[in-house]
Amino acid sequence: MNPFFKQFFGKQTFGSKDSSASQKKGVLDFLYTDIAIDLGTANTLIYARDQGIVLNEPSIVALNRDNEPVALGHEARLMHEKTHQDIRTIRPLRDGVIADFEVAEMMIRGMIKKVKVKWYSTTRQMVVCVPSGITEVERRAVRDSAEHAGAKEVYLVDEPMAAAIGIGLNVHEPVGSMIVDIGGGTTEIAVIALSGIVYAQSVRLGGDELNEDIINYFRRVHNLLIGERTAEKVKCEVGSAAELDEEIEITIKGRDLVNGVPKTRSINSVEIREALAESVNTILEAISKALEQTPPELSSDILDRGIMLTGGGALLKNLDKRIMEATELPVHVAEDPLTAVVRGTGTILENIDYYRNVIS
Ligand SMILES: Nc1ncnc2c1ncn2[C@@H]1O[C@H](COP(=O)(O)OP(=O)(O)OP(=O)(O)O)[C@@H](O)[C@H]1O
Ligand SMILES: [Mg+2]
Repeated sequence: MNPFFKQFFGKQTFGSKDSSASQKKGVLDFLYTDIAIDLGTANTLIYARDQGIVLNEPSIVALNRDNEPVALGHEARLMHEKTHQDIRTIRPLRDGVIADFEVAEMMIRGMIKKVKVKWYSTTRQMVVCVPSGITEVERRAVRDSAEHAGAKEVYLVDEPMAAAIGIGLNVHEPVGSMIVDIGGGTTEIAVIALSGIVYAQSVRLGGDELNEDIINYFRRVHNLLIGERTAEKVKCEVGSAAELDEEIEITIKGRDLVNGVPKTRSINSVEIREALAESVNTILEAISKALEQTPPELSSDILDRGIMLTGGGALLKNLDKRIMEATELPVHVAEDPLTAVVRGTGTILENIDYYRNVIS
């Protein structure tokens, strides 16, 4: 736990629930592998009871002509945008929700199979996190997919609640915390107090959109066509939300749109910041709106504690600085922001009774 979280939340808030009391152990437990899943637009992570995080792979499946899966996760990601007519890669989630049920189920099933150390075991309990803004129909779809993938009991938890638990906040306290989880498909902003979500807003904008911004920028300004993987590399290596102490440069390869030949080009962080500006502003506006809607007593807690950033998008260089300047509040990037949600979902799985009122 980083020093900031320790100062405010101490040790008692994380892993202190008496799991032996809240979780009854049975003699047949060896027959089951209970798991928690962060089914994300960009990445799927699985936490297994008593084992911790056992899988962390891109949410992508490669299918053959007969629609049978030939690769999952990392392996499928390597094939993405490099396939021929006999193989296609599919990302079954869009904007934080399942867009292709059949493939999503194949992916969940395949990933669970990958992590099952005991071939004879079945999945009994499964905790799955979902974006806070989704509809009842979309929630039902996630529950159905988890059940079809073999789970006997399925519990859903809102993604920002899981993120808050994952970074060690005591969500049961009568104290407000603001979580901003920036994923691949959505940005979830939530104010949490007394085990509930006081305010939540889910903006269907995340890392995927930033990649699109970069692709469009190269096409418009440099007549250069680049793929999603190159855009992702540019974003992670030179993308930023505010001025850097030392601006950086990267060389990338793409296809020249004028004469159709492969071309190399150098690009610096100032240009990429410009390309990302509009989307970054949309995130800032959503945070400002959330602050405006927060009841005053909770606002004062947020003033003391600051805003917590989780999700892969929190790693965009100087995004914390930019949010700090815009809101005049302290902003903290969670330790290992990409695993915060699954760590929280896993903590819920290990302490189901203690967290009964945050799951449905
Ligand atoms: N260093 C980085 N800079 C900027 N963005 C990053 C960095 N590292 C990862 N990302 C982005 O984080 C996103 C993935 O984050 P995360 O795994 O939290 O999303 P997700 O949970 O799959 O999506 P969602 O919660 O929206 O369904 C990707 O869009 C990725 O490009
Ligand atoms: Mg996520």
